[in-house]
Amino acid sequence: MHAALTDMLARRQPGYSLDQAFYTDPDIYAQDLDQIFYREWLYAIPACQLTKTGAYARIQIGAYNVVIVKGSDGQIRAFHNSCRHRGSVLCKERDGQVAKLVCPYHQWTYDLDGRLIWARDMGPDFDPTRFSLRPVHLREFCGLVYICLADDVPDFDAYADLARPYLEIHDLHRAKVAYTSSIVEKGNWKLVWENNRECYHCGGTHPALCRSFPLDPEVAGVSADGTISPRLQAHFDRCEATGAQAQFRLAGFAGQYRFARMPLQETAVSYTMDGKAASRRALGRVALPDAGSLLAFHYPSTWNHFLPDISLTFRVTPIGPQETEVTTTWLVDKDAVEGVDYDLKRLTEVWVATNDEDREIVEGNQQGINSPAYLPGPYSPEQESGVEQFVDWYVQTMQRGLTPRAVAAE
Ligand code: FES
Ligand SMILES: [Fe+2]
Repeated sequence: MHAALTDMLARRQPGYSLDQAFYTDPDIYAQDLDQIFYREWLYAIPACQLTKTGAYARIQIGAYNVVIVKGSDGQIRAFHNSCRHRGSVLCKERDGQVAKLVCPYHQWTYDLDGRLIWARDMGPDFDPTRFSLRPVHLREFCGLVYICLADDVPDFDAYADLARPYLEIHDLHRAKVAYTSSIVEKGNWKLVWENNRECYHCGGTHPALCRSFPLDPEVAGVSADGTISPRLQAHFDRCEATGAQAQFRLAGFAGQYRFARMPLQETAVSYTMDGKAASRRALGRVALPDAGSLLAFHYPSTWNHFLPDISLTFRVTPIGPQETEVTTTWLVDKDAVEGVDYDLKRLTEVWVATNDEDREIVEGNQQGINSPAYLPGPYSPEQESGVEQFVDWYVQTMQRGLTPRAVAAE
């Protein structure tokens, strides 16, 4: 498989969508998991989702089942959701709250920090310290929780250092989850990303979003050569003139992640049907109400919109070769009161509709690609350079992962 896939990656035509197999083949999907999802840092949840001691969230990534739990010391940890006795899952629900992690099979009981604290009738020589839950790497920064399944984790600090000046001003540590939606799109995870990285489709697909989101690709930071339009530059300058100790301009464009604060449509300040703020109590300290949306993506697991009044995080989780889960979380200030400071329908309706519209076009894209008649087609240089950037990142990351590593010298 490695040789055939390496060959296919090398033969890829730049500027064109990928060959059919990349969107359909179970073996390539397995390699996507091995080379990307089992290796990279993945966005998991906003930290504020786990408010109380013992609150947990369970996440399935390919074959891995992970539970993220808040300890009595306030620290968030992640463990493989598999008992050290005979392997049963510990937490069956998607989320919940527990005093201890108790295995449903024979009730081995783990503290929230993963230590085995009770196991019945295991004999006098049994040493519980040898059977702690297996930890999963976890980093919490600026209110976001990332996990990594690899033994040898890739560097996280370069990303965190770049992201911090953009994110700090949003005060995500004082957020609360107003709403979460998880939808399943019957499409390969790369199609979900390709669709996310362009707005060529927006005018014909997203009537609600287009009330606030600009259709001009230059405004959304998309230019084939990475240059910034005068209009976008003027927006960055205006944001920075507010004197806030924060970053606004485009950063990290060429690689795995990018941050930039893009203006919305003329009078819009948030993603609502009338363009007005979604919450009267702002989450964060962005001084300019019309500063727009801090668009942030981090391949392969998340894109985000951080606004002056609310924040939105999106998580992309592959389920199968032609199935992907997209989880959206709406964050508001923890003191914002539903029905007083924000209305849940008003807060969520634009992106609930947009996600569903995107689901439908991703599914249509997958169905068309499944035909033997499908041939890779050209990306628009004016509208789809972001798609090309994603596909280039995918191809390069796979090529790097498939390259045999040098055997350490004896
Ligand atoms: S498998 Fe967990 S207690 Fe037996
Ligand atoms: Fe869309």
